Amino acid sequence: MKVAGHSFRPSWAVLLTLGLAGLESVDAVELNVNNADSIKSAAKDIATNMMTYYTGMNPGDNPGNLPDPYYWWEAGAMFNSLINYWYYTGDETWNDITTQAMLWQAGDNAAFMPANQSKTEGNDDQVFWGFAAMSAAERNFPNPPSDQPQWLEMAQAVFNTQAARWDPATCGGGLRWQIFTWNNGYNYKNTISTGGFFQLAARLARYTGNQTYSDWADKAWDWITEVGFRSNEYNFWDGASDLSDCKDINKIEWTYNNGVFLLGAASMYNVTEDPKWKDRVQKILNAGEIFFVQEPPNVMYERACETVNTCMVDQRSFKGYLARWMADTIHMAPFTHDQIMPKLRATGQAAAKTCTGGEQGTTCGMRWTSQKWDHTKDFGQQMSVLEVVQANLIDYVAPPVTKDHGGTSKGNPNAGGKPVNPTPDALSYPITTADRAGAGILTALMMITLGGSCGWLIWD
Ligand SMILES: *[C@@H]1O[C@H](CO)[C@@H](O)[C@H](O)[C@H]1NC(C)=O
Ligand SMILES: *[C@@H]1O[C@H](CO)[C@@H](O)[C@H](O)[C@H]1NC(C)=O
Ligand SMILES: *[C@@H]1O[C@H](CO)[C@@H](O)[C@H](O)[C@H]1NC(C)=O
Repeated sequence: MKVAGHSFRPSWAVLLTLGLAGLESVDAVELNVNNADSIKSAAKDIATNMMTYYTGMNPGDNPGNLPDPYYWWEAGAMFNSLINYWYYTGDETWNDITTQAMLWQAGDNAAFMPANQSKTEGNDDQVFWGFAAMSAAERNFPNPPSDQPQWLEMAQAVFNTQAARWDPATCGGGLRWQIFTWNNGYNYKNTISTGGFFQLAARLARYTGNQTYSDWADKAWDWITEVGFRSNEYNFWDGASDLSDCKDINKIEWTYNNGVFLLGAASMYNVTEDPKWKDRVQKILNAGEIFFVQEPPNVMYERACETVNTCMVDQRSFKGYLARWMADTIHMAPFTHDQIMPKLRATGQAAAKTCTGGEQGTTCGMRWTSQKWDHTKDFGQQMSVLEVVQANLIDYVAPPVTKDHGGTSKGNPNAGGKPVNPTPDALSYPITTADRAGAGILTALMMITLGGSCGWLIWD
């Protein structure tokens, strides 16, 4: 996905929708956050609007992709929001297309590395699909047919392929932003990639009870701290280039970086009950206060870009993940309930008030603080409103299952081990000089072996 301050990807994808949104309707999404039926009905209206963007289930179309300008990862995020939608509301409307798309994109090794995405797929992109699979396992989303990859197996496959990419050769460790050497941004080590891996490891640790995942979560947390991507005040910065030993840190702060560490730390607290993790959860939560305005109280905003209208396509969806993970944090670390709930309530209510656009009056805006539609329309901002509205049902649903407590998804600790090794030659499109510009300086054949265990990967 795109990182502000870095023009790795074409700028035509930016803000295409701003100002093109059209009419405002007399209808609007009605929401009373204190009433479960009202929340469910608002969520349905918002999700129905969101699904007008998706056509992958139609014959001849491609399951799991959104149209331009939306990148593939955001579709993974969408299926996660639909799994959450089903879990919160019980409405099965989009279950089948979710399963269809996830199986389609998971591919032969179940790790969400389809060859079609090799030109852009980063570790962060992959992990958003991994999160969707993990959520499906944790929520007992209906399992795929037994001859197909299973939810837990997919999450493990993503974990295993990423653990194999842990890279101590520069900056003392961490995950690179990009997976493939030929992609722009290969030299960038970033917080969302390493943070995504951290959260997935922590959730796998909780679900399976396997210590290996906890060890990796610890390792990822420690590295983020040592490299300085987390400040002493628990701000999470964006990342840095490994060409300068990760010293020159891009200090932009995004909602989702706070969120990805919040739920990861809360999951580790749930696993270990160690006061160290409780303290970290509390500090991440406190540091996240900067993403909420005072007036109206407790309403979330993307402070790095929203007030100056520079949020790019990917960034327009980020608030949704913070909302999603704050709600999940309540289950993992119930002591956070009273600090988080007022924020989900106020933000959900304000966000829903922006949903008065379009013919049905269900198109939502980007600026929730203004509590009215801002005449923009965008897939990611629609998904974000869905997440924060449905998050208000968190007190009505059961906490995530685990392998020994209610979980039914079949795992495979060695999933993803089959090497995925697409090369530019195998791609269905030519790699241009521009595509290569800024790509890695890695030239030698590199093999990362993981202490004799599962994963390995060969770089062409
Ligand atoms: C990859 O692209 C081809 C051609 O558009 C399409 O037929 C195929 O379904 C795509 N694969 C995935 C996993 O999306
Ligand atoms: C772990 O999660 C469960 C389920 O939500 C919860 O009941 C329990 O209190 C949590 N553990 C801790 C230490 O907060
Ligand atoms: C725990 O996870 C590791 C890493 O995936 C795996 O190698 C190992 O077999 C797992 N152990 C069990 C008991 O499943």
